[in-house]
Amino acid sequence: MIKDSTSFPAMVIRENEDGTFAKSIESKQIHDLPDGEVLVEVEYSSLNYKDALSASGNRGVTKKYPHTPGIDATGTVIRSVSEKFSSGDKVIISGYDFGMNTAGGFARYIQVPSAWVMHKPQSLSAKTCMQIGTAGFTAAQSVLSIHEMGVLPSHGPILVTGATGGVGSIAVALLKGSGYTVVAATGKEEEYPWLRKLGADDFLSRRQAAIGEDRMLLRERWAGVIDTVGGSILATAIKSTKYNGTVTCCGNAASGNLPLNVYPFILRGVKLVGIDSAQCPMNRREEIWHQLATKWDMQFLDSMSTTTSLQELGGIIDQMLQGKIRGRTVVHLREDI
Ligand SMILES: NC(=O)c1ccc[n+]([C@@H]2O[C@H](COP(=O)([O-])OP(=O)(O)OC[C@H]3O[C@@H](n4cnc5c(N)ncnc54)[C@H](OP(=O)(O)O)[C@@H]3O)[C@@H](O)[C@H]2O)c1
Repeated sequence: MIKDSTSFPAMVIRENEDGTFAKSIESKQIHDLPDGEVLVEVEYSSLNYKDALSASGNRGVTKKYPHTPGIDATGTVIRSVSEKFSSGDKVIISGYDFGMNTAGGFARYIQVPSAWVMHKPQSLSAKTCMQIGTAGFTAAQSVLSIHEMGVLPSHGPILVTGATGGVGSIAVALLKGSGYTVVAATGKEEEYPWLRKLGADDFLSRRQAAIGEDRMLLRERWAGVIDTVGGSILATAIKSTKYNGTVTCCGNAASGNLPLNVYPFILRGVKLVGIDSAQCPMNRREEIWHQLATKWDMQFLDSMSTTTSLQELGGIIDQMLQGKIRGRTVVHLREDI
């Protein structure tokens, strides 16, 4: 029986007196959780770039500390005052303000508004859902956008930037699973064999991906681009996109700037599509999760994901901020019992 005094472990980020931030695993109680209609026991969470920013004191993501990050969680409803959910339901919570300014999934229990909760697709395990997580959901949004904008596999290769990252690596696999030829741009040349197994047909180094940033337009190469890094790599990719091609933009791992001109748009009809997962409306969110559960073979996720505990998570967050990890990291909360 869960009581308001029931205690549980959670990662807590605190600001030190000198303005630096420290992560630790603390004991919290249910009554410490924010108000919300649904109380959930978390089985798995996952690590996303936004969590690493939140855990390092980035005020663009999290304004107030102490804070528990974690923008993804899956688990079991313990109690709900919303009729949409009952005790025992298996659910996913992801996006909106979860883990940003509302205590997130790096904790055994969470309490959230019912509008942020969706039923877990039955055919996906809790662990698979978090191997996908926000990164995989964003990759799926990007791949579906490319397709919905009319770019077909016969039109030519799709470039994926930041290809070893969570979004990039799942995008590589989903594009391959949809029949596209995939070119992976990465700063980790030692990971070419790993990316090839996921579905990459060819590679660009990070340096090659930015060649020509000072030119107005470049040779038409890509039928589409899934960009996760921004900056001059995104600008170069847009200038190299074929007539009527589509470029999706979801991230800023390299830069939030876009040093570009109008010519790819007014001379080649290139489309630039912004991708946002956080505020994605619930009906579209459920539709994309349905596609993830039915459209693609997601077995590749096991080969690109590692599982960690809350205790080990701090070190992995530091590695993510240094761009040193590949693929996806899931956090197993029940391991701490
Ligand atoms: N819009 C949304 O809703 C949404 C959702 C999820 C994520 N995002 C954003 O998408 C981006 C990727 O997220 P993620 O979860 O995939 O992060 P991630 O796992 O940390 O991957 C980011 C990848 O970007 C590349 N990279 C890192 N630093 C770089 C630099 N200085 N220059 C060029 N490339 C660099 C690295 O790949 P290589 O070594 O292979 O080049 C790295 O693995 C982040 O900016 C994140 O905030 C946005």
